This record gives sequence, C-alpha cells and structure tokens, in this order.
Amino acid sequence: MILISGATGGIGGEICRLLKETGTPFRALCRKGEQVQDFQKKGIDAIIGDFDRPETLASALRGIETMFLITPPTPQQVDQETAAIDAAQKVGVGRIVKISASDSNVLSPVPWAKSHALIDHHLRASGINWTILKPTAFMQNFLWFKDPITKGFLPQVTGSGSVSWVDTRDVARVAATVLTQDGHEGATYFLTGPETIDMKEASSRFSKAIGHKVRYLDLPSPLFWLILRLTGNSNWMAKGLVVQFADVVAGHHDIDPTFEIERLTGKPPHTFGDFIQDHRKEFAR
Ligand SMILES: NC(=O)c1ccc[n+]([C@@H]2O[C@H](COP(=O)([O-])OP(=O)(O)OC[C@H]3O[C@@H](n4cnc5c(N)ncnc54)[C@H](OP(=O)(O)O)[C@@H]3O)[C@@H](O)[C@H]2O)c1
Repeated sequence: MILISGATGGIGGEICRLLKETGTPFRALCRKGEQVQDFQKKGIDAIIGDFDRPETLASALRGIETMFLITPPTPQQVDQETAAIDAAQKVGVGRIVKISASDSNVLSPVPWAKSHALIDHHLRASGINWTILKPTAFMQNFLWFKDPITKGFLPQVTGSGSVSWVDTRDVARVAATVLTQDGHEGATYFLTGPETIDMKEASSRFSKAIGHKVRYLDLPSPLFWLILRLTGNSNWMAKGLVVQFADVVAGHHDIDPTFEIERLTGKPPHTFGDFIQDHRKEFAR
C-alpha cells in the first residue's frame, strides 16, 4: 500500500489523480475529517494523520510499504517531516519518496533550502529506503503574480537570472512513476523543465500568449518584500522569497535543464508555453 501525504495539495493531489487513473491501490493522508470524506466520496481510501501531531501517525502508517512525503515551506517543516520519518521507521515503512528542492544546502540562506537539506540527511540516515526528488522552482509560482500580469506587469527581483522552471504536474508524474516502480532506492533526481528562462523572456512569452503586453519590472528587494507582505505573506516567507530570487536566481545559481523527467517517465515535461496556455484564463484580461 502506498500512502500519499499532501493529498489535498498541488503535487500530492495530482499524484492521487494519476494513481487512480492507473488503478494503483493507495491511501490519501488528510488532516481533517471533511477531507477524508471528500476522498471517500470519490472512491479513494483516506485516513487522518497530521505531522504536527505525531500521535496520529502510527495508525496512519501501519501496513504502508511506500510513503510519499511532502509538506509546505514553513518554519515547522523540519519538525514535521522528521516526525513523519521517525514514525515511518518505527512501524517499518519500506521506502519514502520525498519532495526536496534542487538548491537544498545546510548552509543556504534560503530557509526552505536549508530545511530540505536537513530533512534529506535525516531520511538518508533513517535506515528506510529512500528516493529524493529535487525540483527546481515551479512554473505554478507565476500564479502568485496573476493579478499584476493581468494588468501588464511581472514584478520580480531576479535581474537577468534565469530558472529551468518545472511544472508541478511533471513533478507529480515522476513521483507517481517512482512510487510504483522498483529500482529507485537510494536515487536523487534533479527535476527541471525543458529550458532555462529569465523574467524578460517570461514576460515576452506571456505577452505573445495572452493577448496583451506584459513588462518585467525588476524591483529593488525592499519594494518586492513590501509587496509580498502586503499580499499576505508572513515575514519569514517574504524574506525567504527575496533571498531566493534576488540572491540565488539573480546570482545565476539555478541549475541547468536535466532532462530527467523524460528519462524517468518516457514523456517530455510541459514547456513554459504549455503552462501559460493551460492557465490562460487566469492571466488574461
Ligand atoms: N514552490 C517552488 O518553486 C518549490 C520548488 C521546489 C520545491 N518546493 C517544495 O515543494 C513542497 C510543496 O510545497 P507547496 O506549497 O506547493 O505544497 P502544497 O500544494 O501547498 O501542499 C501542501 C500539503 O501539505 C499538507 N500539510 C500541511 N501541513 C501538514 C501537516 N502538519 N501534516 C500533514 N500534512 C500537512 C497540506 O494539507 P492541508 O490541505 O490540510 O493544508 C497540503 O496537502 C514544499 O516542500 C516546497 O519546499 C517548492
């Protein structure tokens, strides 16, 4: 049996859809009773479990052979995922497939890059078989800026730095593949989209695809931080995003395309153009 954590989120939800499509048995992990009922109504087995409440995990993990592990980026992420790994180790889970990040590094100034590095090390030392997926930045991050994009602006702090943006649907497809195949134990896969794109090029692709001109606004970091705060992000998140984009991306530290998605799944990843087309309604006026 496979347990999918983050089943109500973007990547976990897409994995559930893919596994259901192929008739693969799995169970969705949820934090709330209503979420369990929603899955059950769709004919999907679901169970309560919350990484903030380790006492809920033994029963959720019993009988599980393989677990998909994901949590959102928060200051609690290391505690949540290490609690999940420890609980899995106690009940004898065979393998964990974890979403990490391409820039994970224990010395990183980007908070979630440091968290993922600490969790990756904890997982490797746990004695459980593991597969670690390291995606670069998600194309879906552009949905954060859909309101300014509809007004003709793409605000960022990345200068001429570029990213090999990856679509979360492809990350989910790799996860569904490695969750259901043998031979991925002890493997770390860096996942990227097919090309590396800076904000000027991204703006030009938006302009061509959505029918109005979109200009890249290369903002000073304090102004970008303020916009992130005014649009509801915590100070922890806003500071982290500024460092991620203004230091890591603007400093040209993102990774080149790896072509792992096609190698692992037999199908090429979505292009940036595919992503815009599939979300056209959200970006168009
Ligand atoms: N954004 C990027 O560019 C990028 C790039 C590389 C890697 N990543 C990594 O990708 C991961 C996914 O992030 P996301 O924000 O996109 O995920 P997401 O779609 O928001 O999904 C998060 C899931 O985690 C569940 N969850 C939250 N707290 C939990 C807890 N205490 N116990 C169990 N489940 C819990 C949520 O359930 P509820 O519905 O109950 O809240 C939700 O299903 C993060 O680790 C991030 O660092 C992101």
